[in-house]
Amino acid sequence: ALLQGAAAPLLDWYDQNRRPLPWRLDPTPYRVWISEIMLQQTRVAAVLPYFHRFLEALPDIPSLAAADPELLLKLWEGLGYYSRARNLQACAKACMQTHGGRLPGDYRALLELPGIGPYTAGAIASIAFGLPVPAVDGNVHRVFARLLSAEGDIAAPAVKRALFDLAAQAVPSDRPGDFNQAIMDLGATVCLPNALPLCASCPLRECCQALARETRHYLPNKAAK
Ligand code: ADE
Repeated sequence: ALLQGAAAPLLDWYDQNRRPLPWRLDPTPYRVWISEIMLQQTRVAAVLPYFHRFLEALPDIPSLAAADPELLLKLWEGLGYYSRARNLQACAKACMQTHGGRLPGDYRALLELPGIGPYTAGAIASIAFGLPVPAVDGNVHRVFARLLSAEGDIAAPAVKRALFDLAAQAVPSDRPGDFNQAIMDLGATVCLPNALPLCASCPLRECCQALARETRHYLPNKAAK
């Protein structure tokens, strides 16, 4: 496989460079889920105070399911995209009804829940439950597009599917959540968008097709408008 041998240097890099984020220090399914939903449209630094406040007020699925919508609105105010908070509560209620008040430790079951798509299901399954499934968001997509030197429009379904399949093959069964978060951190701090990737400090420079082919500056390709 193309990325054989990538996991060890990536995880070493992560061990030395990981950001000590609160959902990483204690990755329970609930904490990982709440953090991933907050992080979908909001930066890490902005999420941190909201995350602490939210967890203090609503520490688990039963309290979230039973919360007064006014309190929820207050806890979410300023984060934006309030539909995320409404979906959180709908999901908590669904977990109460069908999963004994817990998030299920199963990728397909997670996907069935309100507000949980492939990315969030993959993040919860890998980070909180240790399952070897990918978690492909925008940053991760860019990293894999470069590793593969994927040509073509990244928004095209065939290209997306190819990258998801690559990510699925690349996730190791040992430390899958750390692997996924290492790719996220790589995308956020090293494999930067546009012409700015910091390839000299990348733990995956040995296996990066875009670096080898000097295509890194223009990958991933977006369709011309
Ligand atoms: N962005 C989305 N999920 C993240 C995570 N688990 N760690 C860091 N950044 C993220």
